Amino acid sequence: MQNGAETNDAKGRAVDDMSRFIEGMPKAELHLHIEGTLEPELKFALAERNGVSLPAKTVEAMRTAYDFHDLPSFLSVYYEGMSVLISEDDFFDLTYAYLVKAQSQNVRYAEMFFDPQAHTSRGVSFDTVIRGIHRAQDLGRVELGIETQLIMCFLRDMSAGSASEALAQSLPYREWIVGVGLDSDEKGNPPVKFIDVFAEARREGFRLTMHCDVDQDDSVDHIWQCLDDVGVERIDHGVNSLEDDRLVDELRTRGVALTVCPISNSYVTEGTKASAIKEMLDRGMKVTINSDDPAYFPGYVTENLIVAQREGGLTRDDLIRLSRNALEAAWISDDQRRPYLDELASYSTRF
Ligand code: ADE
Ligand code: ZN
Repeated sequence: MQNGAETNDAKGRAVDDMSRFIEGMPKAELHLHIEGTLEPELKFALAERNGVSLPAKTVEAMRTAYDFHDLPSFLSVYYEGMSVLISEDDFFDLTYAYLVKAQSQNVRYAEMFFDPQAHTSRGVSFDTVIRGIHRAQDLGRVELGIETQLIMCFLRDMSAGSASEALAQSLPYREWIVGVGLDSDEKGNPPVKFIDVFAEARREGFRLTMHCDVDQDDSVDHIWQCLDDVGVERIDHGVNSLEDDRLVDELRTRGVALTVCPISNSYVTEGTKASAIKEMLDRGMKVTINSDDPAYFPGYVTENLIVAQREGGLTRDDLIRLSRNALEAAWISDDQRRPYLDELASYSTRF
């Protein structure tokens, strides 16, 4: 399929055949920080509800300030934004707003990261955070037909001891969390710093993933540590693996999925890395496309797929492969997976 003739959508935007195919495709999202879905409008509403003052005074001024050039410049704005998240209802509203948006993009299943230490460190309890998110997940399942699971991320620029405390705090909610991840500033914070807490998490039955952000210092070495020292099942980002042929072979042989985020890439480094995504597909790697922090790197999963398709020259089969990779890498049982795969297969033959 070519990109094809353009027509206009309800908002008057030009839409081509490929974009329509992407919009309608059933999707799974595996790399989404729930705190990164806090849109400026909701940020202002929660600030008002909680009597919090924000540096920007208008939505436009806030969006203009989202002018990131690397990971740390994004992270400082991302953590500052969390100051408006205080009550259980705030976390509910944040999560439900994302679920409504995801459903509108035909996301059937999502695994959502949350950062408990970013909240407990400012006096908001673990219980408040997780109860608000969980309540929205329950309602999303019933009202929106969207299935979700939670992944708890440790902040890698905090200590391993702090991560252990977060793990201990999570245990009363063990059934509500499918896995653990590692995010925040990678510089000087390699995977092996958290080897013990990840080993403990595995003993508790959590699934394991870690960020290896794009174009960071020692990225290739960090990806090797994830595989050989920590034993993760997925890597979040991991684009720099292409620099090492042996690493590519290892990821492919072990079937380790990479959750790549094109629009996010363009804000923390040079470009979306769409041609790297195409190369990963062509080399048989289990690559997926995701939105990361869509309120800050503007674009949800559909927009990320569209930009990757246009810039990487992805075919219709590539797009189906990306969606199938995400479903195959999802932390669900094969019985749960089958109907999603069947729906995708029938979409692919019908379109
Ligand atoms: N926290 C939220 N988004 C992140 C990202 N893309 N990398 C590292 N930490 C994050
Ligand atoms: Zn991320």
